[in-house]
Amino acid sequence: MSAKRTSIHGQWSSRWAFILAATGSAVGLGNIWKFPYIAGENGGGAFVLVYLLCVACIGIPIMMAEILLGRRGRRSPINTMRVLAREGHHHPAWQYLGWIGVLAGFLILSYYSVVAGWALAYVFRAAGGLFSGAGGEQVGEIFTALVSDPERLLAWHTIFVVMTMIVVSRGVQSGLEKAVRFLMPALFLLLAMLVGYAMSTGSFAQGVAFLFSPDFGKLTPAAILIAMGHAFFTLSLGMGAIMVYGSYLPDDASITQTSVTIALADTLVALMAGMAIFPIVFAHGLEPGAGPGLIFQTLPIAFGNMPAGTLFGTLFFVLLVFAAWTSAISLIEPAVAWLVENHGMSRVMASVWAGAITWTVGLGTVFSFNLWADDTLFGLTFFDLLDFATANIILPLGGLFIALFAGWTLSRRVTMEELGLDGIGYQLWYILIRYVAPLAVVIIFLNVVGLLRFG
Ligand code: TRP
Repeated sequence: MSAKRTSIHGQWSSRWAFILAATGSAVGLGNIWKFPYIAGENGGGAFVLVYLLCVACIGIPIMMAEILLGRRGRRSPINTMRVLAREGHHHPAWQYLGWIGVLAGFLILSYYSVVAGWALAYVFRAAGGLFSGAGGEQVGEIFTALVSDPERLLAWHTIFVVMTMIVVSRGVQSGLEKAVRFLMPALFLLLAMLVGYAMSTGSFAQGVAFLFSPDFGKLTPAAILIAMGHAFFTLSLGMGAIMVYGSYLPDDASITQTSVTIALADTLVALMAGMAIFPIVFAHGLEPGAGPGLIFQTLPIAFGNMPAGTLFGTLFFVLLVFAAWTSAISLIEPAVAWLVENHGMSRVMASVWAGAITWTVGLGTVFSFNLWADDTLFGLTFFDLLDFATANIILPLGGLFIALFAGWTLSRRVTMEELGLDGIGYQLWYILIRYVAPLAVVIIFLNVVGLLRFG
């Protein structure tokens, strides 16, 4: 057996620190902003069911694979893949998996940061009491006023990129760990309170039925693809974010337990967000398929009409910003770790470079909502295209190759040793990673390709 490696970037202080950081990465805009609006656009229940199945059968095994690869390699994903391929005498092309991940990280963060900027802007709108007594129409106007102003969006996007770079430049323990410890539980409590408010709207049953009663007639091949893509997106899988966090994981931590814990926490937050939002949608006659503005056009109604809504609204958007922040840092960490390892840059310099690239690509998303709103390809704006290509194509492809590498290329001895599993537990993971996850991704892809060609 090879001598145990350590990472030059440091290590989490404990297993719990890793769980918090990885949960911080997983829980973000994906759960609170994206999940409700794509569930709304794709008809609710059946879509949610496919998403849950994908989390369980594809997401959890691939998360375990990413963590084990990261911990085995103890480097940035690019170098981890290179070293593991070399050690096992496998093809050097495996390192491109790391490269695709770095690219995906930049692309995702570029628009993630713009949406996080909306959340930042909403902190001030909530604090200023702008929502008090507001109904659906006013709240819609507040949102439109924000996104149609390129200068404001640009300012908030810039602030969020800078915030992300500051934390990333400080490194694993001092930067990443501290933020998550109190913020995640606080966010959870506030969401629980919003679900409580949703119960008082009179449309709670309707909202819950929308989320949980499947109507398979609405389940198109495209909806299945989006549900699978979202399972990757929400768990931060397919691009090396969890891999790089795994590379800082202490050797004695159980990968299986941590993966299951992270996936459960992430799913719970998404379902709670859905249960908070859809009752408000129905109670106010809003449109579940309203698109990316959905939470910004629904939750302010709750804050505007509940006791102490200004306080809770402000707090909620502050926590949403933090949730986005702890996710954003994981999107850029693989690139920063690589710049430090291969170009001898300081973390600060590496963060500045990464931030500059993200900021520049982000301009496309900023303008998608105003100046370029009519410049579309297949009816999709720059933002729509970027979101679709990353979440529904690049991440599942990355995940597919991670599954193939862990399930078919690495030896069973290595994976067994890292996972610390044997018997039936290992067998289950082995079947999922070797057959179920890769086949599911391929079949869901082919299903959509078939639709494009014949349907
Ligand atoms: N999972 C985060 C969310 O749901 C976003 C995110 C962070 C992510 N790191 C990632 C998505 C890596 C894909 C890959 O908001």
